[in-house]
Amino acid sequence: MNIQRLSPPQAPAYRALMLEAYAAHPDAFTSSVAERVALPMSWWEARLANGPAPREVVLGATEGGSLLGVAGLSFETREKACHKATLFGMYVPASLRGRGVGRELVVTALDCARARPGVRVVQLTVTSGNVAAQTLYERCGFVTFGLEPLAVAVDGGFVSKRHMWCDLGATDESTRRT
Ligand SMILES: CC(C)(COP(=O)(O)OP(=O)(O)OC[C@H]1O[C@@H](n2cnc3c(N)ncnc32)[C@H](O)[C@@H]1OP(=O)(O)O)[C@@H](O)C(=O)NCCC(=O)NCCS
Repeated sequence: MNIQRLSPPQAPAYRALMLEAYAAHPDAFTSSVAERVALPMSWWEARLANGPAPREVVLGATEGGSLLGVAGLSFETREKACHKATLFGMYVPASLRGRGVGRELVVTALDCARARPGVRVVQLTVTSGNVAAQTLYERCGFVTFGLEPLAVAVDGGFVSKRHMWCDLGATDESTRRT
């Protein structure tokens, strides 16, 4: 398995995986299939665009040309918030779970954030009750700092979101890979 930054030619595979994710786990993602299926391929390509200091980076786990999982990182651009990045769009298809793909993606995303000058904090949100994702994040050094009630409207009800953060100044290689 190889973890790499995705680039525009991989947009169709990335789009397919994320549409599968939104459909299979409506509780876990704030975006819906209907919203995202309507976007042109250029939107997905733009998200994967290469550049020296991109606003967003999407990492993919690949094996033999197949995309096994993805995770995104978006960087704050405002002067007083550019020490923060957000982990988003984390997905590993059900048939590939439990092999360490998710962990490698999160660890690589943290390394990527650490490599960006000035970035100190990575934040994320995870739906309350999503034990697999919450445990994964905790194992990678994330800590809960709040619970947002009624965060996302889904299937006629609401789900809460747990807000988590990882202080890159307080984690090191040994804690992240155990
Ligand atoms: C969350 C998700 C990305 C995990 O991917 P994965 O490749 O199966 O995760 P890994 O195999 O790397 O597991 C890493 C750690 O996460 C934890 N974990 C993973 N699945 C778990 C589960 N079902 N229950 C409890 N802990 C779990 C474990 O601590 C595991 O490490 P361990 O096996 O050494 O104990 C995957 O389940 C997924 O895509 N879920 C649906 C979409 C989603 O919820 N995305 C997150 C949105 S915030």
